[in-house]
Amino acid sequence: MSEPSEKAVHLRTDGWYGRPLAGFAYRSWMKRGLPDDAFTDGKPHIGIASSWSELTPCNSHLDEIAEHVKRGVWEAGGIPHIFPTTSLGETQLRPTAMLLRNLMAMDVEESLRGNPVDGVVLLGGCDKTTPAQLMGAASVDLPTIVVSGGPMLNGQYRGQSLGSGTDLWRFNDEVRSGRMSIEDFRDLESSMTRSRGSCNTMGTASTMACMSEALGMSLPQNGALPAADSRRLRLAHLSGRRAVEMVHEGLTISKVLTRANFENAIRVLAAIGGSTNAVVHLLAIAGRLGVDLELADFDRFSAESPLLVNLKPSGDYLMEDFAYSGGLPAVIAKLGDIIDGTAPTVMGTPFASYADPVAAEHADPNVIRGLDDPLLDESGIAVLSGNLCPGGAVIKPNAATPELMQHRGRAVVFESIEDYHERIDDPDLDIDPTCVLVLKGCGPKGYPGMAEVGNFGLPARLLADGVTDMVRISDARMSGTAYGTVVLHTAPEAAAGGPLAVVQDGDMISLDVANRSLNLEIDAFELADRLAAWDPAPPKYTRGYYRLYIEHVLQADKGCDFDFLVGSSGNEIARDSH
Ligand code: FES
Repeated sequence: MSEPSEKAVHLRTDGWYGRPLAGFAYRSWMKRGLPDDAFTDGKPHIGIASSWSELTPCNSHLDEIAEHVKRGVWEAGGIPHIFPTTSLGETQLRPTAMLLRNLMAMDVEESLRGNPVDGVVLLGGCDKTTPAQLMGAASVDLPTIVVSGGPMLNGQYRGQSLGSGTDLWRFNDEVRSGRMSIEDFRDLESSMTRSRGSCNTMGTASTMACMSEALGMSLPQNGALPAADSRRLRLAHLSGRRAVEMVHEGLTISKVLTRANFENAIRVLAAIGGSTNAVVHLLAIAGRLGVDLELADFDRFSAESPLLVNLKPSGDYLMEDFAYSGGLPAVIAKLGDIIDGTAPTVMGTPFASYADPVAAEHADPNVIRGLDDPLLDESGIAVLSGNLCPGGAVIKPNAATPELMQHRGRAVVFESIEDYHERIDDPDLDIDPTCVLVLKGCGPKGYPGMAEVGNFGLPARLLADGVTDMVRISDARMSGTAYGTVVLHTAPEAAAGGPLAVVQDGDMISLDVANRSLNLEIDAFELADRLAAWDPAPPKYTRGYYRLYIEHVLQADKGCDFDFLVGSSGNEIARDSH
């Protein structure tokens, strides 16, 4: 016989706390100083999902941010509960944090579904933490709001501003070419990371924080405010307050994230010169929500936005400069009618309310340009097709060398990242600056985890000759802080039997970004014969999470989610065991 309820159920947590007898265990164990009405008076319980970890240094300040979210939740009449999620530190985790993005998404999803929460504030910062939290939350569909940790202050070294990652790649090449000493290189290390926060370039962390804002999933200014700026704590406070209101309004994530939001995010991605990693993450988040987003949409909606924001890795400035120039609200105002202002947001107001025309008016024109004076007319992500990438491939035109955007060259092939490391500086390697470097075995299944090695370095002897860029093609990703004429996310990947697997040394490859084509210049019969003769390598891993990953990960053009995680299971409360 079912137990009578004390009052009409209107909160999800009433399924735990709202029953006079069976709710005893839930209430009693959670009380610990909370008054009775914390459980019986219609007060929303807000989970604060924190990826705080000292092993994720760019998220190690999230404990303080979480305390400010709590203040906002209390103030609005909610009950806050901080809980940990998996944390993924981009620089520390091996073989690659991307391998564990789906694991973190599963953790977030089941933690939310299994626990008594009515809404959630997602606290992340490092590259994969934001998409993993959004993917997991999307599959549960609670009222959800994102608070990012914020970027570090600008690095400073001998009078120069230093950007995380971007300047590391640059100085790495300087050392390899003999133009910089290893002692000076070591000196840079402390100068690059001067404060709490995530990478200070428009790398993947900053891109995904900006994507959260562009999707309408965070409050305005979430993308750019530095971690060290007390206004980020205010944003955290206001987000906690808003999470409680969203529960009362029944504003769940699926009501916020429509196709229009993703279209806006892609336009903003182009305007800010954001990371190519956003492609796989946005596809995966959309897949959880049943939003029909395809790789081709990135080309289509990117084309609507010129590049307005002059930040490294493609430009000159850093996230701190971007914040002081008005951040994303200034960019959204400058984009004007290019943006769909009707898209819903966590604020409950249309996306047009995220534009700040006053900030746009006062923005430093060196950092944020106007539509009449863009840095580049063509920006964002170009999606390539051709016989070398039947599932597509991507290139970031604003990070590439203009003269190489149309190029035909002889392939120099590396079968794996190990093969590359072994031979790239071999004096006998037959290579010149017109060659096309091809790297296999770095895709979702092959690496596994689709490593960020797509901007693999040039041979040291060519660097010493002053060569700064060559066309590179792989099934890998690229760090958001990296640059170069690099074709990424080639699908299907080599390990899944894509045509990349059968490229041979000496084959001619043609790249034509303007016409969006990437082709291996062999005839269709020859390609078919090579593919028929191709033998897959035995799986590198046969147990545990790695095995699960290799067996179920989707290709890059589908967002690299697991096939069985696409879609949503909703927030229905699991069967009671008490
Ligand atoms: Fe975490 Fe860059 S390493 S944000």
